Amino acid sequence: MKTRAAVCTGLHEPWKVEEIEVADPGPHEVVVQMAYAGMCHSDEHLRTGDISAAPEVLGVFGVDSMFPIVGGHEGAGVVTRVGPGVDTLAEGDHVAMSFIPACGHCFWCASGRQYLCDLGMSTLAGPMMSDGQWRHHLGDQRLNRMTQLGTFSEQLLAHEASLVKIDPGASLKAAALISCGISTGFGSAVDRAKVKPGETVVVVGCGGVGSGAIQGARLAGARQIVAVDPLPFKVERAKEIGATHGAASILDAAFLLPELTEGRMADVVILTPGVLTGDLVGPAVQLSSKDGRVVATAIAPFNQEQVSLNLFNFAMFNQALLGTVFGSCSPRVQIPNLLRLYQAGLLEIDKLITNEYTLDEVQNGYDDLAAGTNIRGVVKFDV
Ligand SMILES: NC(=O)c1ccc[n+]([C@@H]2O[C@H](COP(=O)([O-])OP(=O)(O)OC[C@H]3O[C@@H](n4cnc5c(N)ncnc54)[C@H](O)[C@@H]3O)[C@@H](O)[C@H]2O)c1
Ligand SMILES: [Zn+2]
Ligand SMILES: [Zn+2]
Repeated sequence: MKTRAAVCTGLHEPWKVEEIEVADPGPHEVVVQMAYAGMCHSDEHLRTGDISAAPEVLGVFGVDSMFPIVGGHEGAGVVTRVGPGVDTLAEGDHVAMSFIPACGHCFWCASGRQYLCDLGMSTLAGPMMSDGQWRHHLGDQRLNRMTQLGTFSEQLLAHEASLVKIDPGASLKAAALISCGISTGFGSAVDRAKVKPGETVVVVGCGGVGSGAIQGARLAGARQIVAVDPLPFKVERAKEIGATHGAASILDAAFLLPELTEGRMADVVILTPGVLTGDLVGPAVQLSSKDGRVVATAIAPFNQEQVSLNLFNFAMFNQALLGTVFGSCSPRVQIPNLLRLYQAGLLEIDKLITNEYTLDEVQNGYDDLAAGTNIRGVVKFDV
């Protein structure tokens, strides 16, 4: 079939809508008519080269470049076709996309850690996970898809392991945001940092992911939540969804915390700025108390290896620095769970959607994100 999709053809090239060719679904593959796609910062990391790999690693995926690539990994839609052997989904099912596939069988899935599914290693670039065949082409070129998805596409062909069935009555728009950003932030607070009632939490960066972290901390019973962002409107919005205090920078938060915590500093610090750099880690750890937990959620450039951190204090203060992917929770548990919280009025999503775009306007959406006017933009498909 032919479909329209936003494609990036090279480093720093804009997202541009192209007509692409998509073959029939292969084993365990499903076609989804997209309804909404969220505009997460991770797709911008792709365009800037932060999400990439060395040529020899790309070679393992059978490609010599990340480009051309269909963008987008947040989204939700309706199943229109299933391929041979699909047993978890049927035509008409409503689904959210998960950038981490969950096969259910590998060591990690079997031990309850589906966010670490071994299929995740095949999501950077390359052909279909099911049989290693290419089913997406732009002219005669093979097309990569962001995390084996590419949600900026009217019709999406993906492996059933990357799709999470949701309640047909649930909002597909809310499901799109929950499918990556909100789940990742929420899990960073609840599942990775394990925020406890009464704790003080700092969230650095109040975009889509940070907004999930703030609400996770609120629902876990944090007494104080400090929202850090240089953009005042994002700090204001953060206060509407649960932040109790705001700060324009990590430094400002460092001055604020002693009086909020009787000098102990924050129990938990969650790093969700647009780009994570090594120089943010030391100051973030300094915001945390003795026995404090610091969660690195944001994505750093793939070759970022240096971190500034006072190791003496880190050990003597018994602190923890934790990485997280998808907020360290299974997509098949977290996405339906957060949708139910949204339906119950306990999780705010609508206020985070600052703009809706057509598929042709994907680059405008990322320009708005860079200009600081978006918390989350969504692509609304004509369905
Ligand atoms: N670990 C994962 O599994 C995972 C999943 C999804 C997204 N991510 C990553 O999480 C990060 C956040 O994503 P997003 O979509 O919310 O991004 P975003 O661009 O919407 O939001 C980032 C926010 O950080 C703010 N900011 C930038 N520098 C800052 C600083 N030094 N201090 C405080 N605030 C700062 C920006 O003003 C912006 O409001 C990105 O790096 C994204 O790629 C990680
Ligand atoms: Zn994302
Ligand atoms: Zn698995």
